[in-house]
Amino acid sequence: MERIAIYPGSFDPVTNGHLDIIERGTQIFDRLIVVILKNPKKQFLFSPDERIEMLKTSLLDFPSVEVDTYDGLLVDYAAQRKAHAVLRGLRALSDFEYEFQMALMNRRLKREIQTVFLMTGMRWIYTSSSIIKEAAMFGGDVEGMVPPLVLARLREKFPVLANPR
Ligand code: PNS
Repeated sequence: MERIAIYPGSFDPVTNGHLDIIERGTQIFDRLIVVILKNPKKQFLFSPDERIEMLKTSLLDFPSVEVDTYDGLLVDYAAQRKAHAVLRGLRALSDFEYEFQMALMNRRLKREIQTVFLMTGMRWIYTSSSIIKEAAMFGGDVEGMVPPLVLARLREKFPVLANPR
């Protein structure tokens, strides 16, 4: 049986921390579907189309990974795609409560879908889309934390980043 996992998130924008989890996820699952979902708690910098383009370009080397978007519940999408697992990365302790809540709610909504956590690589422990956007907004250099196309798109959004401090 093909083992399919969903890797959901906002990906606003995708970071090297996400790519690390995706790369390791491909070693566990036959197929990984990266899906951009709505997080009502967040305001977005990039449109869904921009986020898809950045993800797709950054994942060209991963033929077993697909990129998609969905407007609804994660567990409904997982069931539609016949996935058995949801993959999430865990960074510092601060992620734990939110991830715990989400995993338990998803389990309550659909018992047969398992959430699998991978510890983030040490290099990416403090990498998050939010902190990268904040640094970039004020001209902080984020090279090496995001894929090349994301760096280029951040420089377009924040001209101050063209000459980082
Ligand atoms: O990258 P994020 O913002 O931490 O990802 C959160 C995301 C998008 C996975 C979460 O908000 C989500 O699953 N949204 C879709 C609605 C849903 O199913 N929520 C969880 C159960 S209430």
